[in-house]
Amino acid sequence: MTRNFRNGPGNWPERQDEMTEQLDQQARDIMTGNDRGGYTVPTSGLYPYQWNWDSMFAAWGFSTFDRARAWVEAETLFASQWENGMVPHIIFHREVPEYFPGPEVWGRERSPATSGISQPPVAATLIRWIYEADRAEGAAHLRALYPKLLAWHRWFMAHRCERGMIVVTHPWESGRDNAADWDAAMANVDGSGVGEYTRRDTSHVDGSMRPTKEQYDRYLALVHFGRDCHWDEEVIRQSSPFRVADPGMSFIFLRACRDLAALGAELGEDTSEIAGWIAALEEGAASHWNPERGHYDSVDIRTGRFSGALSSGAFLCWYAGVGGDAMLPALERIMQAVRYPVPSLDPADPRFDAPRYWRGPMWGMFNALIARGLAEAGHGAIAEDLRRRTAECIARNGFYEYFNPVTGAPAGGGLFTWTAAIWLTWASPAAEGRV
Ligand code: GLC
Repeated sequence: MTRNFRNGPGNWPERQDEMTEQLDQQARDIMTGNDRGGYTVPTSGLYPYQWNWDSMFAAWGFSTFDRARAWVEAETLFASQWENGMVPHIIFHREVPEYFPGPEVWGRERSPATSGISQPPVAATLIRWIYEADRAEGAAHLRALYPKLLAWHRWFMAHRCERGMIVVTHPWESGRDNAADWDAAMANVDGSGVGEYTRRDTSHVDGSMRPTKEQYDRYLALVHFGRDCHWDEEVIRQSSPFRVADPGMSFIFLRACRDLAALGAELGEDTSEIAGWIAALEEGAASHWNPERGHYDSVDIRTGRFSGALSSGAFLCWYAGVGGDAMLPALERIMQAVRYPVPSLDPADPRFDAPRYWRGPMWGMFNALIARGLAEAGHGAIAEDLRRRTAECIARNGFYEYFNPVTGAPAGGGLFTWTAAIWLTWASPAAEGRV
């Protein structure tokens, strides 16, 4: 059971110290409870496998109380790296027949089976943070992981980079499944031929918090496209009906390249190839700027059009070290508009839907990255405000997957790994100095 302090004898933040200790323990318990031995599920039931970026957040969380376990998490993820360097977004470690879409839908026979797309490459960054917390212990792990990270980044540059921006070939690859960013481009995907299927997500979570059936048909059509071409990257590049450059991905990847270069230098490797990528990505960041709307935006590679959605991915610009303070007015406006920022979509957008997944809710792990960037760029007060509000939201409502940014109402799965992880590493009042 998630305990929360909304109706407790005193409310957060008045009894913060005592509650912090209890919440820290609860977060550790959630993480160990979701540990399936070598990998951590995002939450039991709804997500019964290993997810790529969830797993890296888990590693970061583990590093606050069990560093050896943190390295195992990263190593298990990279053990399923494909020969072409891609690190899949889901690793199906065991059979869970109730899950959909499972390994048979992806059609990629491996052991363990995997999906056929990737996910936001936070790994190099989080591995750097874990490593820097204890270099002596991390040295051998880093040495073994570095070539794998490099191969994954090479795969991104070879197959997902256009005009210096990172492209997703499926909305799920962005980690922001039903974001408004994809609406126009998804209109080009024909979901009418996917046949009958039974969704499982809506048997765990209310449908109003999940993507619609029509969106789901199109997600499946894209999976079928990849499966039918045997995940051939050349075919996907030439003829996928969906290819969108995502500022969230571009910024996460640019940041990860900077961290990878730092790790390479630490190991005495030649990092000139990575320096070339960084230069290309810094230039590409400018192509995400929508001058008409005045914010970073997604770009449909097939049509060249901006999506016209101001989503949370755009606020990772500081984390990526680009753009100066061009996004500051938008952030300040949004921080005033909702109590629990950063919403996944601008509340001023008519498509804003406060409880629905990536079309409104606040996601704690996104905030942890946004705040890190803000603090590094000299906006410590805003970063601290964001931390406090995130902490208050979790303390009052529990370790949920995501939250209504207006009311704080919890949504999606409960006892969620990445919410527990970012509590321990960042949001908790006791987090400072832990990693
Ligand atoms: C959802 C999220 C994705 C996450 C996964 C597991 O699909 O959109 O970002 O990795 O759930 O938590």
